[in-house]
Amino acid sequence: MNVTISQLHKLKQQGEKFTCLTAYDASFARHLDEAGVEVALVGDSLGMVVQGKDSTVPVTMDEMVYHTAMVRRGVTHALVMADMPFLSYTTPQEALRNAGRLMQEGGAHMVKLECTAAEVETVRLLSRHGVPVCAHLGLLPQTVYKLGGYRVQGRDAAAAETMVGDAVEMQEAGADLVLIESVPRTLGKRITESLRVPVIGIGAGPECDAQVLVLYDLLGITPGKRPKFSKDFLAEAGSVAGAIQAYVKAVKSGAFPAAEHCFE
Ligand code: KIV
Repeated sequence: MNVTISQLHKLKQQGEKFTCLTAYDASFARHLDEAGVEVALVGDSLGMVVQGKDSTVPVTMDEMVYHTAMVRRGVTHALVMADMPFLSYTTPQEALRNAGRLMQEGGAHMVKLECTAAEVETVRLLSRHGVPVCAHLGLLPQTVYKLGGYRVQGRDAAAAETMVGDAVEMQEAGADLVLIESVPRTLGKRITESLRVPVIGIGAGPECDAQVLVLYDLLGITPGKRPKFSKDFLAEAGSVAGAIQAYVKAVKSGAFPAAEHCFE
């Protein structure tokens, strides 16, 4: 039986951290599973780290379905969460149709979408139809061309306030998890404390209920500069299995992320 959303909620209530890591194929997914990672994220980051593209924007629904099915075949334990790609959820009905593809053709247990207040009705519709949803807030990589770069979000008081409000609205609309990317540590803590549902952080500080990393960053094989919030666990561990186990241990003990991986 795969990890359930209620088990993740229980971990939050008990104050126990859990882990999420990206996977794009069956072999790596099996490594995650064996290390006890609770959530395998089929991230649209695959556009950059697997396909060598400049951003996540070109990733298609067919590609997400293909990779999700591979990851699903590799796990027996982890909950499989699949990203909805750019422009696959411009209306609630379109989101429902595409989330259905990720679940029915790809075998995803849950979908993740990059959210602003504009996605509240979409989250509500998905949730009403039994689609488990993770609302991704903070830095939204699919909007990189609008943002002009991958920048820390929520630094000023007004933006932080809006993000806390959006997170609460997503929860009330039925989101089962919230993921926040690249925000100051204090904001990560505030959002985590404001919500009943678990908050997964990436560059959002150690107070989040869970952490996520891009697998290729954790293995030190992402080309170019690694993000500040990531860590190469392979360098110390010496094997893929050892690196993933070290990540799980570091998140659960609170050792990762350390101060050097956080934004102030
Ligand atoms: O696509 C992805 O890998 C993600 C993570 C950065 C959270 O969304």
